[in-house]
Amino acid sequence: MRGEEILDIKSLKEVLYNEELFIVLDKKVKDLHGEKLKEIFEGLKYSPVIFDNFSGEKDKSLKKYKECVSFFLDQKIHRKAKVLAVGGGATSDFAGFVASSILRGVGWSIIPTTLLSMVDASIGGKTGLNVKEGKNLIGAFHEADYVFIDSSFLETLPEEEFVSGKGEILKYALLNKDIYNQVLSKTSFNELIYSCARYKQQIVKEDFKEQGKRILLNLGHTFGHAFELCFDISHGRAVAEGIIFKDRTLNSSKLKESLDLLLEALGIKAPFLSINSINENWNRIIDYIAHDKKKSNKNNINILLPTEIGHVKVQEISIEKIKNLFNT
Ligand SMILES: NC(=O)c1ccc[n+]([C@@H]2O[C@H](COP(=O)([O-])OP(=O)(O)OC[C@H]3O[C@@H](n4cnc5c(N)ncnc54)[C@H](O)[C@@H]3O)[C@@H](O)[C@H]2O)c1
Repeated sequence: MRGEEILDIKSLKEVLYNEELFIVLDKKVKDLHGEKLKEIFEGLKYSPVIFDNFSGEKDKSLKKYKECVSFFLDQKIHRKAKVLAVGGGATSDFAGFVASSILRGVGWSIIPTTLLSMVDASIGGKTGLNVKEGKNLIGAFHEADYVFIDSSFLETLPEEEFVSGKGEILKYALLNKDIYNQVLSKTSFNELIYSCARYKQQIVKEDFKEQGKRILLNLGHTFGHAFELCFDISHGRAVAEGIIFKDRTLNSSKLKESLDLLLEALGIKAPFLSINSINENWNRIIDYIAHDKKKSNKNNINILLPTEIGHVKVQEISIEKIKNLFNT
């Protein structure tokens, strides 16, 4: 696989000048950054068609998919047209799925506007919709052509969404020594975004369909997903909590000090969830974990445990053993 090109937003006019763009735009981003977006799209050869009736996670649905596809077909989308997602990870997952399926697939690009989407969701070609049975259960692997970074979108990002992106940066810093050093030396967010996005891209290049190395990117996600669903906290915060919880309960590594340094450098106040609240919700958490996609078989689950910065081991652990971490 080729890998998306990660470019500065200034390159958009050059590389998409000749394209007929069909844009999926997050409503909030339209309200907050209308003027900036006008400038970004000004002077392109064709005026873009814009679907702006999209409001984040709740719209990653089949209903919204039908609405968007009908609109683009009415507006005469054709095989050579390009879809462009402008928004956070919910918008790019949705727009990417539209691009992967409309007219049997057209090319697409992304302008990510949240930290989480810049460092993570825009990279790697996973697209998806939620259905009542669960999140992202309908989708396709369909890699974007370009990801255009403009970190000035982050100026309007609410604090909790920032923490969400930082949770994923924490994960990358544990997986990669260079990113670890960058975080501790307080490198600018702009640089960190490129480092994280390129690191993810490299891993995905080696394992597009998650048969091997890509699993590393799930660090913190087994407990993280369970916490996200159980406590209704943002995705990246849940990942950070998953990493911390696992380190305290299952990992015998000497990572605690590095983890504390990273949390401090990133300004993540953690742990956010008390051991008591985890304990009280333990049966639900175990239920979510028992349904995790990463189960190796009916009774066991593969857990990723960092052994030192840049090294992670995969350990198969029985769900029974996890259950017994608390005697509820
Ligand atoms: N495809 C992948 O590899 C991948 C990876 C991680 C997450 N995801 C998906 O990404 C989604 C989460 O992404 P997210 O955290 O970006 O959520 P999101 O897209 O829902 O955005 C979060 C909130 O921020 C708002 N927002 C977006 N940009 C803003 C800005 N610049 N200023 C102010 N508000 C802004 C949105 O309207 C929304 O309310 C989930 O659906 C998850 O499944 C996908």
